[in-house]
Amino acid sequence: MPPKNKTVYICTNCGFESPKWYGKCTSCGEWNTMQEEIVSVQKSNSAKSAAPRKTEKLLPVSYISAESEKRLKTGLRELDRVLGGGIVPGALMLIGGDPGIGKSTLLLQICQHLGSSNKIMYVSGEESLRQIKLRANRLGVVSDNLFVVCETDVDTIIQYVEQEDPDVLIIDSIQTMNLEAVASASGSVTQVRECTSAIMRVIKAAEIPTFIVSHVNKDGAIAGPKVMEHIVDCVLYFEGDRNTSYRILRCIKNRYGSTNEIGVFEMCDRGLSEVENPSMMLLSGRPHNVSGTCVACKVEGTRPLLAEVQGLVTPTGFGNPRRMATGFDYNRLSLLLAVLEKRAGYFFSNMDTYINVVGGLRLDEPASDLPVALALLSSLKDVPIGDDVVAFGEIGLAGEIRSVSSVESRISEAVRLGFSRILIPYQNLKGLKSVKGCEIIGVKTVRDAFETLI
Ligand code: TYD
Ligand code: MG
Repeated sequence: MPPKNKTVYICTNCGFESPKWYGKCTSCGEWNTMQEEIVSVQKSNSAKSAAPRKTEKLLPVSYISAESEKRLKTGLRELDRVLGGGIVPGALMLIGGDPGIGKSTLLLQICQHLGSSNKIMYVSGEESLRQIKLRANRLGVVSDNLFVVCETDVDTIIQYVEQEDPDVLIIDSIQTMNLEAVASASGSVTQVRECTSAIMRVIKAAEIPTFIVSHVNKDGAIAGPKVMEHIVDCVLYFEGDRNTSYRILRCIKNRYGSTNEIGVFEMCDRGLSEVENPSMMLLSGRPHNVSGTCVACKVEGTRPLLAEVQGLVTPTGFGNPRRMATGFDYNRLSLLLAVLEKRAGYFFSNMDTYINVVGGLRLDEPASDLPVALALLSSLKDVPIGDDVVAFGEIGLAGEIRSVSSVESRISEAVRLGFSRILIPYQNLKGLKSVKGCEIIGVKTVRDAFETLI
């Protein structure tokens, strides 16, 4: 008997399935995420796991051989860093990002270095062979080990993989792929999930490291159910402002390394180039001897980054004062203003207040409170706080400066870039080595901090 198809409604956010449509997903509570899909009743074999079927003898963990895994280097040190030191054999890596941000460019670019000793299969469902060739020419990718196919049928791709046995596989956009056994359209939740698991089964068995490009939806999350993020080993987001040429590669999940590492790239006319000194880039073009700016230091993963915070405080023209924050949390700004009023005695209630973090960076660490407060106070009083100052520290509701983590790495980054006065929480001073040519100042309250600078 031919298999019957049935209609189900699947939540695009969490993957919850229901025979009935709901306005609000009963599983994750999101509105308007239930999508109609036709599913073939003949169960696709997604439930089978990638593990071999035959049972093996159970081993205590101490008996498992732990030779350090050999990682493939991609030739881009920033990407290697984000991946935790290179590509692990058999790893399934997902790269998400806005259209046109440079996902295809990044993956084609690493083929040059990887291709010197590995066979690469690049499957594109979005571009024609000619378009890929033109891009490869522009990027200077001329490897004989790079094989390009335009294909969207996953069964055919799996056949290619089995025939050719590549060392690295790249799938450009999982949203264009489809499995014939699944009735719904390409890009739908079921297709994306089934295609990912089909590819995973093959590459895990053959230990082929694989990159999968995935689109993001309008909220910036990877399109498709969260299920996809659960099954892959590594989730990377490629972000950046379309108007600037800087791109940040961020790791959200990594089974083989730490998350929160970032890689910084610049999009040039010959592809992406690495930015090895992002603090320098973020601080370039800084105005000198101007009020309302302060340099902050945030830690991304293990990497300290310096960024300039600018504050502008002007008298309110209309009844209600305006507050605006770019790169900083709006509610945190309101909280800091309240603390400055109540605990430090500086009044902002009839002032419009703006905060901007230069370079498109987001300061969402509590350690960024102090530089933001200093930028605001400097603008309010119209006194510059000095070009040689870096500050970091969390501000408590009593106006106290609280200790933060990774103090030494923050200080060494500031010293490396030539800053000579560093404001840190007083409690962090304990056990800190003094640095030659640099004054490290421990501060207890916001008022203290501002008054030591002016
Ligand atoms: P692309 O990799 O196609 O984006 P995605 O795959 O994420 O959709 O990136 C294309 C953008 O990058 C496009 O706007 C042009 C720009 N670009 C350059 O500036 N220089 C280059 O050398 C290349 C190849 C692209
Ligand atoms: Mg692309």
